[in-house]
Amino acid sequence: MTSDTDWAKRALIYQVYVRSFADSDGDGLGDLAGVRSRLDHIAALGADAIWLTPFYPSPMVDGGYDVADYRDVDPRLGTLADFDALLSAAHDCGIRVITDIVPNHTSHQHPWFRQALTARPGSSARARYIFRPGRGPDSVEPPNNWQSVFGGPAWTRLPDGDWYLHLFAPEQPDLNWDSTEVRAEFVDVLRFWLDRGVDGIRVDVAHGLVKPAGLPDATVAGVSGNRPYFDQDGVHEIYREWRKVLDSYAPTRIMVAEARLRDTVRTARYVRPDEMDQAFNFEFLWAPWSLERIRDAISRSLTAMNHVGRSPTWVIGNHDEIRVASRLAADVRSSAVGLRRARAMALLSLALPGSAYIYQGDELGLPQAPDLAPEFHEDPKRRRSAEPRASRDECRIPMPWHGDRPPFGFGPDDSTTPWLPQPEAWARLTVAAQQHDPDSTLTMYQQATRLRQTDSDLTGDDFAWKPAPSGVLAFTRGQRFTCAVNFGPTAVPLDQLNLPENPLLCSTPIDDDALPANAAIWSR
Ligand code: NOJ
Repeated sequence: MTSDTDWAKRALIYQVYVRSFADSDGDGLGDLAGVRSRLDHIAALGADAIWLTPFYPSPMVDGGYDVADYRDVDPRLGTLADFDALLSAAHDCGIRVITDIVPNHTSHQHPWFRQALTARPGSSARARYIFRPGRGPDSVEPPNNWQSVFGGPAWTRLPDGDWYLHLFAPEQPDLNWDSTEVRAEFVDVLRFWLDRGVDGIRVDVAHGLVKPAGLPDATVAGVSGNRPYFDQDGVHEIYREWRKVLDSYAPTRIMVAEARLRDTVRTARYVRPDEMDQAFNFEFLWAPWSLERIRDAISRSLTAMNHVGRSPTWVIGNHDEIRVASRLAADVRSSAVGLRRARAMALLSLALPGSAYIYQGDELGLPQAPDLAPEFHEDPKRRRSAEPRASRDECRIPMPWHGDRPPFGFGPDDSTTPWLPQPEAWARLTVAAQQHDPDSTLTMYQQATRLRQTDSDLTGDDFAWKPAPSGVLAFTRGQRFTCAVNFGPTAVPLDQLNLPENPLLCSTPIDDDALPANAAIWSR
């Protein structure tokens, strides 16, 4: 039996970080009209859908994940008419559109929070958020010991003595999901975008909405490390309600969980049949360049998702992580090795059964940008976190499209400098520079995504591990397709790999009939 959401099971989804994709009006910030102008690039990758990060009115304290109005477009990024035009242009290219819903918290500029600030402690305006009296004499201690995800206490005190909870920045107050008003509001927000015709929603911090009863202190490390506030059973009730909302549309729409959990078995609970359609695979995304870790993440994902009757997702980058081309070489500190591994990971993830995500720029092999000068620091995590290299600005640099110097076609020729500076060295990484180069990362991605769509072994669900020499991870799909990845330090002769005869694609050119270290090969 087929269903309306079958397309998502093996969809290729391209993540557009709107501020950094393309700037149509030359103000230095990417926008919705810019995305529309570059749909051809996304179509050439064979994407089935795009996921647009938040474009709603926002003070942009957290790059738009601090929403001040859930039913409009930030004027710097366009208008509702621009959104409608993008949606219809994407649909004309056969590309579906997934928008981002941010239900865990609002911006401090949202009218509800502004009302809460001027209201009394205990008032109904404050009941939409999580306000509590503090502890200790004069309430000077926060209500509990929770730390925010970005670092520092998860509570901020108002001049009247009341404290409010923010799991992220203080400018992102957490909503109270025990409130029926909050629940009703978000159903209405969902309907606003679904009525406009979006094909799916990505749910930000899906594991965070419901807090443990009584807001107890964190004592021992839980499933989500020392974050006792995540992954409470109560969140699932919300998604069951939302599922009914999505299913009231024909065709029905999809829902994707951003639940940053290390354990795929817990993640699978978000995609039970009456909840969401997909969940980002963080166990796979966070696996280092290690055969064992990657093999385990794949096996566990396949088993856990199979158990709930859903397909896994394969994610190797997003706007919160160090760029894959830099992350995977953390142990060797070599950009050449990083790029090789990123290309091998791309072929690996695009060969697996399920849905694959591409974060804009990974198809160009963009590395993490060098540390930015202080005047460009935007990410609230950079300021608050104790982790060195916590900043996410360096993975959000505007896309290089063409030309030999910044802004590399990001905006019109006479435009303002992009909001984050692009490294000069990216001249050789632009779309135009890679377009007709048979060995470029972009060409490899285009070839791989085409095969992923057309090869009958890759369009099915079959998957089996294949015995391989030490250091090599190999699997088959269907009758004839094999993917092999060399995690070892030296090249492995092809005749030891027992591959099918025809090489289809290799992430690094083959020398002397051997699969180089840090490389993947597809054959049939
Ligand atoms: C996850 C988003 O991907 C990230 O960018 C954001 O900072 C947090 N959620 C908080 O909304």
